[in-house]
Amino acid sequence: MTANAFTPLGAALALVLTASLSGQTGIPAADPAIAALDTMAKLPGGLGALPAPPIPPGNPQTPAKIELGRKLFLDQRLSGRRLMSCATCHDPSKAYTDGRALAVGGSGFTLRRRTPSLLNAAYNRTQFWDGRAKTLEEQALIPLLADNEMGMPGRKALLTRVQKIPEYRREFREAFGREINLPDMARALAAFERTLVTPDSAFDRYETGDKQALTDQQKRGLILFIGKAACSQCHNGPNFTDSKFHRLGFLPGQHANSDLGRFAITHDPADRYAFKTPSLRNASRQSHFMHDGSLASLEQVIEFYDDGGGRGPKSKLLFKLDLADAEKADLLVFLRTLAGTAPH
Ligand code: HEC
Ligand code: HEC
Repeated sequence: MTANAFTPLGAALALVLTASLSGQTGIPAADPAIAALDTMAKLPGGLGALPAPPIPPGNPQTPAKIELGRKLFLDQRLSGRRLMSCATCHDPSKAYTDGRALAVGGSGFTLRRRTPSLLNAAYNRTQFWDGRAKTLEEQALIPLLADNEMGMPGRKALLTRVQKIPEYRREFREAFGREINLPDMARALAAFERTLVTPDSAFDRYETGDKQALTDQQKRGLILFIGKAACSQCHNGPNFTDSKFHRLGFLPGQHANSDLGRFAITHDPADRYAFKTPSLRNASRQSHFMHDGSLASLEQVIEFYDDGGGRGPKSKLLFKLDLADAEKADLLVFLRTLAGTAPH
């Protein structure tokens, strides 16, 4: 499969592709592909600036609720041994990741998956690498109760622990007008997480009309992203994810007995070793990549895709890219334009 065969391409994009595929790089001023890109009203695949995040009708954002959610997020008293909070793994100073290849739980065991960033998780259509939770509300209590994460011994113990903290009795009443309960705790955590959005990246400014917001090299990277490198087949929409699950072939260190991914949820053989397409916004702020943290830089990620993904069965959307070194560099600088304004 070649880049030209993917997605219905508009006339403007076709022009961009033709120009970029003619192999001309390093002509800063009068590159026709860049000129064509600058005149495109819309990018393919719904790529564009981040809109405001969707807020579910059952959980409107209020300042009191968000503040309560922030406190809960940072509170180590909510773990079995009172030593771990959500922020232990989703550290605000590390783009809400833990900076590790694989997460380490409260009991000291290494988990089998990497801690994803929570930046822009508000836009996720499913949560977790295998999508086993739908909403942030549904997700929030799971790590609190998981043995290998925060390790609270049960719902009742968690409720009692929170009820014993006088300030929470007041703050839950302020936020929800009723006594402490676990669904409200999940609502508060989710409301806080919905504030962790990163608008106004250089890419967003470019997309909202400031054609100077990207350099020519970054624009060439964008042209590759939607064209020859075909990343936007899967990383599309304003949050650079199709919210689907794909199998990329084996990652370094992954083998036939590894994590089955989406298959464990659907039992559909097509989902074996498939994982959720992550957002690429703020990827440049991360130190590890992929569900198992097996790639340690964006350069390694680009090499992985340049090779057509890993070995073994994989998505038909992957193919050898044969990017020149200059093109890999262009793609890398483009990915870095997706880091927006950090929330806190
Ligand atoms: C021990 C480290 C650890 C702690 C503590 C932790 N998480 Fe996570 N978090 C992870 C890992 C690892 C995953 C991915 C797990 C998976 O996909 O199966 C994850 C996934 C998530 C996701 C899904 C994000 C996505 O893009 O799919 C959300 C949301 C989340 N955590 C929120 C929280 C909240 C809220 C808390 C506290 C109540 C918390 N986490 C505590 C490690 C942790
Ligand atoms: C077939 C769909 C597909 C295509 C095409 C694709 N990706 Fe991905 N991408 C994914 C999936 C799925 C993952 C997660 C895989 C995993 O964790 O095992 C991922 C992970 C990533 C990550 C790691 C993000 C993180 O937080 O761990 C980066 C960076 C990335 N892709 C960039 C790219 C670039 C650049 C291209 C184009 C060269 C591209 N992708 C093409 C589906 C795709």
